[in-house]
Amino acid sequence: MRRGVLLALCVIGAVSGAVIQPLPIVPRPMVMRQLNGNFLLGPSAALYAEGDARPVAQWFAEQLRSEFGIAAEVAAQSPRGKAFHFLLDESSPEEGYRLRIEPRGVTIVGRPAGLFYGAQSVLQLAAARSGATFVLPAAEIQDQPRFPYRGLHLDTSRHMFPVKFLKRYLDWMARYKLNRFHWHLTDDQGWRIEIKQYPRLAEVASMRKETLVGHAPQSTRYDGKPYGGFYTQEQIREVVAYARERFITVIPEIEMPGHSLAALAAYPELACTAGPFETATTWGVFKDVYCPKENTFQFLENVLTEVMELFPSSYIHIGGDEVQKDRWKESPAAQAVIRREGLKDESDLQSYFIRRMERFINSKGRRMIGWDEILEGGLAPDATVMSWRGEDGGIAAARQGHDVIMTPDAYLYFDHYQGDRNQEPLAIGGMLPLDKVYSYNPAPAALRADEKQHILGAQANVWTEYIADSRQVEYMLFPRLFALAEVVWSPQENRTYRDFINRVPPQLARLKRQGVNYRALDAFKAQRARRAPKNNDKN
Ligand code: ACM
Repeated sequence: MRRGVLLALCVIGAVSGAVIQPLPIVPRPMVMRQLNGNFLLGPSAALYAEGDARPVAQWFAEQLRSEFGIAAEVAAQSPRGKAFHFLLDESSPEEGYRLRIEPRGVTIVGRPAGLFYGAQSVLQLAAARSGATFVLPAAEIQDQPRFPYRGLHLDTSRHMFPVKFLKRYLDWMARYKLNRFHWHLTDDQGWRIEIKQYPRLAEVASMRKETLVGHAPQSTRYDGKPYGGFYTQEQIREVVAYARERFITVIPEIEMPGHSLAALAAYPELACTAGPFETATTWGVFKDVYCPKENTFQFLENVLTEVMELFPSSYIHIGGDEVQKDRWKESPAAQAVIRREGLKDESDLQSYFIRRMERFINSKGRRMIGWDEILEGGLAPDATVMSWRGEDGGIAAARQGHDVIMTPDAYLYFDHYQGDRNQEPLAIGGMLPLDKVYSYNPAPAALRADEKQHILGAQANVWTEYIADSRQVEYMLFPRLFALAEVVWSPQENRTYRDFINRVPPQLARLKRQGVNYRALDAFKAQRARRAPKNNDKN
């Protein structure tokens, strides 16, 4: 907190005799100042918005109704009495807003996305005081995000979740000002997107005959139950539209050349060997991958053409991680490509594969993202790198002038344990308590200022090998999502874990009212206390 603001708060505290609490908003706004008094609302509210501000005001009116039971109307003329004013200001930063709450009215100023985030802050303040009446503390906020890319991922291949749940997921993202939903749609264990030109993807690749019980690779027990499903193109359009209304871009991921066993089960001619193949029933990395043959490139281009019709996102994610090279080494077809293209080895071949797909994606006016393995053999010219095996890939890519999204597994893999694994539901492994997420800074100290410009932001990943249903997704998400939100939104210099943790309980109380299965905070506090003696984290 800046010293002047702190001083102002102390003065107000002294004058009013009140104990000053930080405004209970997550992620912490850039600048906030509490004023004297409150804004109180009865059973109805007046809203004022014009032009492009109207959809946000309409959305806010709907939230007032559904969460607080307040009847709200949006007027195009400024109401006389107490009201919410949504004012467009084209000179504001795209996602920034200014919010002023006074006893006689509430004003939010910004461009549409900023107005939306201002409205989210208002709703958080109201929810934090949720009693019989709708009350907001008088306050002044000026806010804008630290990073333009604030992402959350969901793996819908290993397990699938209903569209209704995906919409809740998007609502939570929007509440905490996240703006990129990375939708992992295909993997070895199931293909989840309808592609009209290839019906066997829905008929065959979307199904597995059974699922491992317990942990891979030790367990040898299977449940004997077929598992599967896919999202129709109509459902995907519905999710994309729902996200857009909440200023969230949906980035589809279609995995290649690895993590493709389900697709090979449907179309074995895309492999280097004859097959037959089966959609995977256990977790891990598999040797059967797409073969770099012309018919494979044709298939992937046709698939991506349908994908790009469904997803307006500028970014298309092509995976690129954990590609096993065994089959390529043994394949005359793959070796012929190495000779024809003058490539050094199979790493070079992977790079050739990815560059070729990038050319296709660029030819459609879109841009490609891949996991950090796409650095091996040389990066495609315009590729954006998602750094997951730590930060090294991201640092190397930024130094080469490429854009980067940080998703280091040690800080941002929400499939890792949150506490003592003997007391937690089965998870993939790792250990990622709340304060460790919070301690993450996406801008590595190793980079120069100009290189740091390439860090677009960060994202948490929710892989679902060990997350079989929506309730378990919720458990793995909360409260860690709050920490992620603050990592990507709030200025690094004025956020601390101590201040953050005080703002968490009202968020959890709101989730509780909404029936969300979050992990209790007490468990984290106990854990932190136990670790305290050797904890040198300054937060
Ligand atoms: C990954 O976690 N394999 C990107």
